[in-house]
Amino acid sequence: MKKLFLTFVTVTFLVGGVFSQSSSNIPLIGSKAPSFTAKSTNGKVKFPDDFGKDWKILFSHPQDFTPVCSSELLELAYMEKDFSRLGVQIAVISTDDVDMHNMWKAHLEELDYKDRGRQQINFAILDDSDAKASKIYGMLHEPASTNRDIRGVFIIDSENIVRSINFYPMQVGRNMQEIVRIVEALQTTDESQVLTPANWENGDDVMVPYFPYTKAELKANPELEDKFYSMGNRMWFKKIADK
Ligand code: BEZ
Repeated sequence: MKKLFLTFVTVTFLVGGVFSQSSSNIPLIGSKAPSFTAKSTNGKVKFPDDFGKDWKILFSHPQDFTPVCSSELLELAYMEKDFSRLGVQIAVISTDDVDMHNMWKAHLEELDYKDRGRQQINFAILDDSDAKASKIYGMLHEPASTNRDIRGVFIIDSENIVRSINFYPMQVGRNMQEIVRIVEALQTTDESQVLTPANWENGDDVMVPYFPYTKAELKANPELEDKFYSMGNRMWFKKIADK
């Protein structure tokens, strides 16, 4: 009996340990984006599976009807065209329920935010009132809050691989242009095996991780400088032709 009791206690602790560990796990860059199902303002959603071969952004926020979150949702909605140009679908998530999301969405859609006119919110706002998805995506940062998500941004590619992770504090609203810039940079580097330097913006020259030719080749063929140029020994840039 004692042995049975000890086995029970050990198993309970082991299982408990696994759960508490997984509640703070963050899916890392390069890993498969965890799948979950949720009610949403657009009906039931299986994330990321339902978004097929599009890129996806999972965008968490602390609480509906709060000032910074409201400004973020409106900015996201106004930028819908920028995201769809890049083949990106957005899913917003918080630990509020879908009824609260629907009320908030209706309220935001009535506003003329910064004189830009009313804006429909077409992306899904996901109900995570049981915090299950927030836990598997590591959105609950317990020193900040045990039941409210921090501001998380997971950029996930067409193969459902996590490509970028950003976390922001509750007090600081995100820069949506920066999120677009990261997607543009990732898609650019995927297309042609290049790198993007600091402060790169779409259309700027990119970098290459190798020496495209020797100094002797360059001397013999100066026109090569129309395609590549170097800064110091290690930094080779590739010119973007139609700049
Ligand atoms: C806000 O969105 O305004 C907010 C939410 C949670 C904590 C602080 C600010």
